[in-house]
Amino acid sequence: MARILITSAIPYINGIKHLGNLVGSQLPADLYARYLRARSHEVLFLCATDEHGTPAELAAAKAGKPVAEYCAEMWQVQKDLSDGFRLSFDHFGRSSSAQNRALTQHFAGRLAEAGLIEEVTEQQVYSVADGRFLPDRYIEGTCPNCGYERARGDQCENCTKQLDPVDLINPRSAISGSTDLEVRETKHLYLRQSAMKDELDRWIDSKTDWPVLTTSIAKKWLHDGDGLQDRGITRDLDWGVPVKKGTEDWPGMEGKVFYVWFDAPIEYIACAQEWVDAGKGQDWERWWRTDKGANDVRYVQFMGKDNVPFHTLSFPATILGSGEPWKLVDYIKSFNYLNYDGGQFSTSQGRGVFMDQALEILPADYWRWWLLSHAPETSDSEFTWEAFQQDVNKDLADVLGNFVSRITKFCRSKFGEVVPEGGEAGTAEAELMQALQTRLDAYSRHMQAIDIRKAAAELRALWVLGNEYLQSAAPWTAFKTDEARAAAITRTALNLIPFYATLSAPFIPDAAAAMHDAMGTAPVWPDDTRAALTALPPGHAFTVPDVLFKKITDEERADWATRFAGRR
Ligand code: 2FM
Ligand code: ZN
Repeated sequence: MARILITSAIPYINGIKHLGNLVGSQLPADLYARYLRARSHEVLFLCATDEHGTPAELAAAKAGKPVAEYCAEMWQVQKDLSDGFRLSFDHFGRSSSAQNRALTQHFAGRLAEAGLIEEVTEQQVYSVADGRFLPDRYIEGTCPNCGYERARGDQCENCTKQLDPVDLINPRSAISGSTDLEVRETKHLYLRQSAMKDELDRWIDSKTDWPVLTTSIAKKWLHDGDGLQDRGITRDLDWGVPVKKGTEDWPGMEGKVFYVWFDAPIEYIACAQEWVDAGKGQDWERWWRTDKGANDVRYVQFMGKDNVPFHTLSFPATILGSGEPWKLVDYIKSFNYLNYDGGQFSTSQGRGVFMDQALEILPADYWRWWLLSHAPETSDSEFTWEAFQQDVNKDLADVLGNFVSRITKFCRSKFGEVVPEGGEAGTAEAELMQALQTRLDAYSRHMQAIDIRKAAAELRALWVLGNEYLQSAAPWTAFKTDEARAAAITRTALNLIPFYATLSAPFIPDAAAAMHDAMGTAPVWPDDTRAALTALPPGHAFTVPDVLFKKITDEERADWATRFAGRR
């Protein structure tokens, strides 16, 4: 039994996330957490809302609410949606927590003592019309790297390049649209990441098992152009963690706050404190301090590719630079983008399906299955309504759902709602068990390695084996001539239901629970298929479950395609 700390990139507070966001971090993290718990490992799975910086301020202004009030409301909205998608966080925290404020200020103090913070008087874009500096997302313009016209001041979401607002071509204020901008002097703190370049480089080199997507992005930032740049970690904003050196004031930095990307990853640690302070856990340091037991922890992070530079370089620089024994990440699973029907999901245009809308039209399991089985692991992937309808109808309704319905109904009609007795397992059952064992081993291997699409393919193949067995063993035919044989087949097939429920639960937890419920069983991970398939004794009572998955009709598909095409 191992101890695994899992964090998902913490979503910005500003608005409801789309399915592309979901499959790029929170959903795969949940899959992995559920799998590891099912294998009896000790898991701490944390997520939170990312509440500071320009995204929050801009969204609150648009909603006409004070930022703190807006954030509190949106936290609840996001929490309810994550519950709706059955994301099994041990705690869903807030980066605006008191714990994160103190810890962020603590890290800044430690970095300053280590000589890793520099005070820089720099040029920042100032909007005359708005009467304020325009950091990060307060400014938009054309990306100097790829030409994308809606790049934000801090990062281009098209090419993932981290930007400085003064680099943007044709800049404009995101508040007023004004182009009456000038460059003024202001003082900021810089984290001297460049001083840690070699250490970071060696650390990344030691991670030989990381996905190529993760290491290639990290390496690009370490070696492209002038190499790793020092980054400003403070901003001229009202909303955020006030700049302090530990608990002391920082002369010259009054009225400024830390940059959202400085305090957001620190929330991974603070969230564990919040988890304890909420009375849900005992000892957060056991997960985070290597001098307090965290050396035994494996720490795995999940995120979209645009988040990778911050997690492979900036956050590790904060941790290493502190000189304190904090746990560093062991494995970073990163994702490409999920596109929507021939284009991109777009929050501003309301193009694509957002988490609230998804749950309005279908239960979580449909989305979980489709998104995870098409996770954009090795390249971008695409959501289309045709593919969604086809895959869900086939995999969930025709294969898994039909199997469960067919065998439970057959048993009820011929033997009643109990596992029948009589007959013996024969060659067909031996072959089935062997085939299942091979697939089960592969499934476990892929889940362990977080190869999500491959794991989904094995799970689907396991479901198919059950269907094929039922089709060829045909208990309805056997029943006419050899009732005992029909009973043996039925018994084997009924045993497959809890077996499937347990294996499928990380992907489709609600259907899995319904299957266990109907069978009167509890999840036990089936290491040995032979034992698993003979676990239910003759006479064990069950009930025929309601339809597990109803099919998506052509009308529904067409209706949804129109409804989510854009302009929300
Ligand atoms: O991209 C995003 O949604 C960011 N809010 C992710 C932050 S992850 C972390 F570092 F906390
Ligand atoms: Zn770009």
